[in-house]
Parts: sequence; structure tokens; C-alpha cells
Amino acid sequence: MEKVGILVVCYGSRGVAIADAFKRSLEYETDLYIVDRQKNPFNARIAKEHIVIPDLNVNEICKFVKKREREIDFGIVGPEKPIIEGIRDLIEAETEIPLICPTKKFAIEASKVEQRKLFQKAIPEVNPKFKVFDPADYRDVSEVKREVWSWLDELNNQAVVKPDKPAAGKGVGVWGDHFRSREELFEHFLANFKYGRVIIEEKLEGEESSFQCFCDGKRIVPLPETRDYKRAFEGDEGPNTGGMGSYKDTGNILPFMTEKDWDKEIEIANKIFSELRGKTSNPELRGTPFYIAFIHTAEGPKILENNSRPGDPEIMNVLPLLKDDFVDLCMRMIDGNLKEPKIEDLASVVIYKVPPTYGGFNERFPEKVRREELGSPVDLSGAEKLVEKYGGRLRLYPGSMEVRDGETYALRSRAVAAVGLGDGIAEARKIALECVEAIRGGALWFRKDIASKEHISRSIERMKTLRKRGGSR
Ligand code: GLY
Repeated sequence: MEKVGILVVCYGSRGVAIADAFKRSLEYETDLYIVDRQKNPFNARIAKEHIVIPDLNVNEICKFVKKREREIDFGIVGPEKPIIEGIRDLIEAETEIPLICPTKKFAIEASKVEQRKLFQKAIPEVNPKFKVFDPADYRDVSEVKREVWSWLDELNNQAVVKPDKPAAGKGVGVWGDHFRSREELFEHFLANFKYGRVIIEEKLEGEESSFQCFCDGKRIVPLPETRDYKRAFEGDEGPNTGGMGSYKDTGNILPFMTEKDWDKEIEIANKIFSELRGKTSNPELRGTPFYIAFIHTAEGPKILENNSRPGDPEIMNVLPLLKDDFVDLCMRMIDGNLKEPKIEDLASVVIYKVPPTYGGFNERFPEKVRREELGSPVDLSGAEKLVEKYGGRLRLYPGSMEVRDGETYALRSRAVAAVGLGDGIAEARKIALECVEAIRGGALWFRKDIASKEHISRSIERMKTLRKRGGSR
């Protein structure tokens, strides 16, 4: 068997799922060189070499890679921070190792303003109404306030406030969730505006879905659609999180989508791709340049945002179902001869188990926190037994977890993901639920309605109502 050395830059369960997909290769013997934020129990076990760089500093990663240049054939990057900081530009300049992720120039999440302008040029109908407020254009607060007020008149107050740069100031704020009056909205706006440009855009009504694709620079190949659960608590309540879980149906689309929605999404992604690629090829886009959060509205799909890396948890719905060898697929992305990947026609459900501090659970439900377990090690052995029992229909991916003195502890973010696979969503969900329930300790909790029949039925009904309102769709 041919031996391949692969660098995996990892953040959480998504990176673990990527590493697992390489380890399952039947065509190659893979030596994994994994860069992690902490000593992840899964990665530490399977890596040929495992190195902890807590802030994923690109210069530190590059130093590590240079020392292993002869052993590493290619690399792949999970999180956006090193992509935005130019990890690919740096490593490809300093070594002969190709990376799978876009270059800094194509990390289009780096600026929400530029992102909206790109969509406006490529396919304007996918943008909500939006207006950019630039501190350089205003003499004082009262001037910008007047303009914000007049824009809110046009939007009938149904507005979303977004800072240009990721994680600047207070972040994204939504009318009805984060503020209920113009004064509150403006306070949120100013907290972002002091750091730079801010967008105020129309709040859209609809159901969300996640589109992901692989790209070799010449073409994009779409992966089946998934649904993320961003809010912390059941019934889509509470603060936004990185995603508490996600589901994928059999086939390519979700139960509340139509084939027409799916075709439109592919058309949208291709138009944006053509805009960036130019006429023939642009290998700088290699990787997952379009992980698009869509919202399905009465007028069809519109874009909430785009990231140039795979979704977490969404890529975990897809990677375990790849029939093609993932190493081979990556080599095709590098060589520019990517083919449509074959994917098993199964449903998948991801459920994350997270610590009480995550998503504000301990503040909202203090009575539900199992205090006797706080700070205790997490016992994954019961869940691991289930992985054996389900023989390929269950994956267990520790994320924000650390091995310390022989025990495994949950850290602050999403601790561990269970991925159930099944002939339908209900079966996949049952397996994932059994798995998260078998994980003990650390006072971990999870959202119980991920992919539930009730939740999915609500999405279907809501889309029916919106489509009626939208007319012919
Ligand atoms: N699931 C949300 C994200 O990956 O950004």
C-alpha cells in the first residue's frame, strides 16, 4: 500500500472527522501529522505525530511543517482562523507542500462587507437588502444615527447588525432576539462601529440550510445539504452557538427543500465561483471555498453568510458517508481533476454534548446542571462500546476535550460529537441519541430536539406557508 503523509490542522470534532476519514483509507497507508489546540484524545491516539499549538499560530505551524517537509505530502485545514491568516500562502511559499484550503485572498469570511459586495456582483438576488456604514463617512454619532434611523424606516425595523470583521465588537445582533428597540439596536451597532465598518441588513424569514462543496480550482462539486442547529436550546431558543448538532436526509436535499431550491443553490454557488475563478481555473480556491449558510425564503434561497472552510458540525454529516477514498479525493483537488464524489444514500444526525458553560446553559437552567459532575473526567467507554455495536453506523468524535494524567476532560467548547447513520433520519437520530446518553461525566448536556420529527415537521409547514405567500414557488 502506498504511504502518504498528511498534515491536518484541527479545531474540534470537525478536524477529528477529517483525520478519521484519512485513517479509513483503503488505498493508502496514512501517516497523520496533526496540529491541535490541545491534546485531543482521538487525534493523539491515531496521529503519527501530534503537536499542540493552542492558538494555531500560522508561523508556529509552518515551523513544524518545515521540519517534516520530507514526510508530509499535503495538508488540509479545518478552521477559518489560520486560513484568514494566510496559512496556505505561508506554507506553500516556504515548502513544497500543497494545502487544501483557499489562500488568504479567498478567505471571504474575512470581511462581511466584501462578501456582500461579491454576491451583489455575481448574483444580486441572493443578497438581503443591505447597507454598509463606514466610520470614515460620518462626522459624528448623531449623523450616523440619523442615517441608521432612516434605513430602519425602510426595513420596518426588521434588521440584522453585522460587524465587517469576524468577532469584532459585539458580533451579529438580530432584531427581536438581541434588541427590541431602535435605541438597543443602536447601542449594539455602536459597539461594533467603533472597530470599523458595520452592515445593517434585512432580517429574512425562512428555514436555514447549509451548502458545502469541494473545489479543485476548475470546478466545484456540491455535497448533500445539511441542517445546522445554531441556537443553544430546544425549540431554537437561547444564544447562537457554533452549532449544537445537524442532520442530513437520504439523497441531496432536506425534507423542507424542493429540487428547485437545490438547483438554485448550485447555480448560486457556481455564479460566485465563476466570478472568483475567472474563465478557466484558479487553484487558490482549492478546498471548501463555499460553505454557504442559506435561508429559504418566500422568494427562494438567499445567503446569510459564506465561509471558506467546512462546516462544524455539518461536514461530519457527509465525511462518514463518502464512498470514494478521501485521500484520493484530496489528491484530485490538488491535481485539478476532481470528480463528483460518490456518497452512500443514508441519513446522518450529529449531536454535540457540551459543558454547562457552553451556550449559557448554567445561567438559564442552573437547576439542571449536575453539580456533582462539574470538573470530573468524561467517560467515553460506554459510547465507544456502542461504536463497536453499531459497526460503522456510529462515529464518536471528541472535540474540545483534553487528555490529562490519563483521564479525558471536557474544555470550554463543544466537547464531543456523536454521528449516527441510518436508512432514514429517525434511525440515524436514535443511534446518535443512544450514544450521547452513554457519555458520562463532566456535567455535559445536549439539545434533545436535534432532527426530531416535530422540529422537521415545523420546518416543512413553515416552508409551505412561505411558498404560498411567495406565489408560484
Ligand atoms: N455550524 C456553523 C459553522 O460551522 O460555522
